[in-house]
Amino acid sequence: MWVKPTARKTVMYELEAALAEDHHFSGGHVISSMCTDPLDIAKEAHAMFIESNLGNAGLYPGTLRLEKMAIDAMGRLLGAKDGNIAGGIVSGGTEANITALWIARNITGKKKVIFPKSAHFSFHKACDILAMEPVMVPLNENFTIDLDEVTRRVDSDTAAVVGIAGTTELGAVDDIHGLADIIPEGVFLHVDAAFGGFVLPFLRDLGHRVPDFDFSVEKVSSIAADPHKMGMATVPSGALLVRDRKWFRTIHKDAPYLDTVGQLSALSGTRCSAAAAASYAAMRSLGREGYIKIVEGCMDVTHHALGKARKMGLEPVMEPVMNILCLRVPDPKAVQKSLDVKGWKVSVAQNPPSLRLVIMPHVTKDGIDGLFSDLGDVLEDRR
Ligand SMILES: Cc1ncc(COP(=O)(O)O)c(C=O)c1O
Repeated sequence: MWVKPTARKTVMYELEAALAEDHHFSGGHVISSMCTDPLDIAKEAHAMFIESNLGNAGLYPGTLRLEKMAIDAMGRLLGAKDGNIAGGIVSGGTEANITALWIARNITGKKKVIFPKSAHFSFHKACDILAMEPVMVPLNENFTIDLDEVTRRVDSDTAAVVGIAGTTELGAVDDIHGLADIIPEGVFLHVDAAFGGFVLPFLRDLGHRVPDFDFSVEKVSSIAADPHKMGMATVPSGALLVRDRKWFRTIHKDAPYLDTVGQLSALSGTRCSAAAAASYAAMRSLGREGYIKIVEGCMDVTHHALGKARKMGLEPVMEPVMNILCLRVPDPKAVQKSLDVKGWKVSVAQNPPSLRLVIMPHVTKDGIDGLFSDLGDVLEDRR
């Protein structure tokens, strides 16, 4: 491969062939991903800022300014009242969650992390990397964290308690106020709103009952929210926001060789800063109104899917709170496999076992009609 240069035409041919193997959101058959086709202006911004590296922020004051504005906008979206909220664009929910627990460990000097069974696997990664102790809490009948069980498990060695605002499998929202009420002073309260961060505020605008899950709850210390999921930005773009900017100092490491004025103390060195520009562009371009319309559209399609399911005699695991719908079907994995053969990418949830549909903005009612037509055939064949 490395011996001789290859003609551009050949390289492009190889790239196109690889791209053709991939599944694309535009086809409408991917109903399993929490990402979507980014907004055009986000793609343009990504291309414009392709050489930026906020890991060496002194060279990119313009990109740094965009990142700060994106974080500021997200802070305001997520209940921040003062200017002390700090944060940065990171590679995604995983990095945001790891960084939050890193800060929690360093502030408290403690080890235990209490999180619900529904938490994303990034919390297990975080505990592994940070030598922290994961304490998994069972769920209640609403598929949210059981507060009594949290009370039972919190002790003097607890660094952090985690609540999820939009679980990966079901889109359930933990009782963040309830968590805030029961955790002792000094315990770090992290909210993983990687998915819900760009859904829940707009659902509230649409009149849905959305309990406070963000910085409006005084004890919430940090929030993860991903622009590359419902934020319509490019991959990789997550965000970590923390209530007090000085907490970032607890993870700071000097890097004298870099021109790092004003740089975020982050897990990554070099950062994909094009995604920071893309996140800014998506938020600036859509405004609150744009996101409200997108979320309204996704919920409309979600309820369309729910109606189709019920007509077929299928029940949801729970009434969808956001644009994730899990259906009780016999042997979900086998059904998923059969749908895959028919060209549909759907996923399965484990708790409880069900067929999981993530109704992102690229999923249309026509697409859902096609999926349910094939699902009907698959279920009929399996009878
Ligand atoms: C609730 C939640 N948190 C964290 C993550 C991890 O995000 P990423 O894949 O961007 O690292 C996900 C991914 O699906 C998620 O749903």
